[in-house]
Amino acid sequence: MGSVSVHSMIVVVFVVVVSLLLVVDDVEGVQTTLEGPFKPVTVPLDNTFRGNALDLPDTHPLVQRTVEGFQPEQISVSLSSSHDSLWISWITGEFQIGDNIKPLDPKSVGSIVEYGRPGKSMSYRSKGYSLIYSQLYPYEGLQNYTSGIIHHVRLTGLKPNTLYQYRCGDPSLSAMSEVHYFRTMPVSGPKSYPSRIAVVGDLGLTYNSTSTVDHMIRNNPDLIVLVGDACYANMYLTNNTGSNCYSCTFSNTPIRETYQPRWDYWGRYVHHLLQNISSVSRN
Ligand SMILES: *[C@@H]1O[C@H](CO)[C@@H](O)[C@H](O)[C@H]1NC(C)=O
Ligand SMILES: *[C@@H]1O[C@H](CO)[C@@H](O)[C@H](O)[C@H]1NC(C)=O
Ligand SMILES: *[C@@H]1O[C@H](CO)[C@@H](O)[C@H](O)[C@H]1NC(C)=O
Ligand SMILES: *[C@@H]1O[C@H](CO)[C@@H](O)[C@H](O)[C@H]1NC(C)=O
Repeated sequence: MGSVSVHSMIVVVFVVVVSLLLVVDDVEGVQTTLEGPFKPVTVPLDNTFRGNALDLPDTHPLVQRTVEGFQPEQISVSLSSSHDSLWISWITGEFQIGDNIKPLDPKSVGSIVEYGRPGKSMSYRSKGYSLIYSQLYPYEGLQNYTSGIIHHVRLTGLKPNTLYQYRCGDPSLSAMSEVHYFRTMPVSGPKSYPSRIAVVGDLGLTYNSTSTVDHMIRNNPDLIVLVGDACYANMYLTNNTGSNCYSCTFSNTPIRETYQPRWDYWGRYVHHLLQNISSVSRN
């Protein structure tokens, strides 16, 4: 139990299909297989990164909660089984950490996505489900965590390789998101597939994670596959004291502690950076 299982439960594989709505320049010198095939190129590690990847603190603008009440945040789009369906996920309400936390009731906020083709009304509507998760430590002095409400809605009957607009939330609470976009996958076939795929692991939530994300965005991927180890809650005590080496610094804790809000920070951070990209992801 503890950090590892919580960790793998949340993000084992995270696949983001991305079609760019931004106009961005290609990075010079970065090869893609689109014009290839090329010999694989190994780019030496920029040694300024090594050992200097400082975690973003919880005061950083990119990890702040920027919504109020039950407005959606941490919105993401996830691949489903084929091109004609996908998942939209988001969080409502604020997480709690400390003593005597009271989990939110997931049924108190609806899970609705309204969607349609750009320039037309969002006349389609799908309903999903919601849940919360908690990390409870039965040890004195450790703080418990309970998440905001996590919503998942599956859209079906989508056309392949097609741009859609959507908003998500609970219309009965006037808590709908702004309009976002995604492009569905092509029908898969020998000549029909996402041609630019970015694969990334160990992204983290550091001052240097942005350079990786910027690099991906500039290369205009159709698909981002995040192969795990998204970020690390388990380098922290529940009181938000962190260390680069947990076992060196915190040798006496009764269990490997975590600071679960790091996951919320990561969801906000990724959403900020990728918000103008339609994306499909898989947890
Ligand atoms: C956290 O939850 C556990 C399990 O319910 C409980 O034993 C413990 O006292 C709680 N800790 C705090 C600080 O509330
Ligand atoms: C990496 O992060 C450090 C701060 O930890 C910063 O000084 C440095 O400029 C960053 N490097 C790049 C290439 O982003
Ligand atoms: C967090 O807990 C550790 C270990 O008990 C303690 O050394 C540290 O001072 C605490 N930090 C804060 C901010 O309370
Ligand atoms: C995303 O696009 C909207 C609408 O074009 C724009 O107002 C907003 O500034 C953009 N956000 C980012 C982070 O690029």
